[in-house]
Amino acid sequence: MNRLDKYLATAGVGTRSEVKKLIRDGHIKVNGETAKKADMKVDEEHDIVTFDDEEVYYSEFVYFMLNKPAGYISASSGWDPNVIDLIGEPYRNLFPVGRLDKDTEGLLLITNDGQLGHELLAPKKHVEKEYYVEIDIPLTEENIEKIESGITWKEETYKPAKYKKISDNSFTLVITEGKYHEIKRMMLALGSKVTYLKRLRMKNLVLDETLRPGEYRPLTDEEVEDLRAV
Ligand code: URA
Repeated sequence: MNRLDKYLATAGVGTRSEVKKLIRDGHIKVNGETAKKADMKVDEEHDIVTFDDEEVYYSEFVYFMLNKPAGYISASSGWDPNVIDLIGEPYRNLFPVGRLDKDTEGLLLITNDGQLGHELLAPKKHVEKEYYVEIDIPLTEENIEKIESGITWKEETYKPAKYKKISDNSFTLVITEGKYHEIKRMMLALGSKVTYLKRLRMKNLVLDETLRPGEYRPLTDEEVEDLRAV
């Protein structure tokens, strides 16, 4: 829910004082009824707001950090269960920035800011993604060198990744592309199988470890600015 004047200002109809005047002068309707008060509450999801009978679309950009649980598909709709179902917010057009496999957990940015989403995913931007990885068979020194110099497997190439050992069967990996099943396939190319995968970071955005799987929170202004910075 939002105040009508804020809704209109955020949607770009005018400044707060301009939209207050539009309301006073009878230009604004909510669900077909002329609005009288600037502080009336509107439901962004369900109410229809019009300015001189033209629908006004609410277009505030919102950003949420989700700790994706296993079992959810990284899509907006049409798939069941999908990550957007976990976001109980009244905004249309929310989408996940990039895909995590159904069984992968961790950081997923959910937004309605198409421009930012596009930039974070553009291959030429080489945005870093850091993962915590567990595998069944430990990697050899030679395998680690391959990870660090790039892998070609089944006609696909994977760019050099940064490897940091945690134990024989676990490590973190920083990759700069987002190819289909990238880490699982890199490991298969080296004779190991991923048994657990969790995204920890995208660019400067670090997963808030207080979020349990399935929980989310809005990004802070600083986090949004960091994501936007080139
Ligand atoms: N690499 C994978 O194999 N799966 C993911 O979900 C992300 C990166």
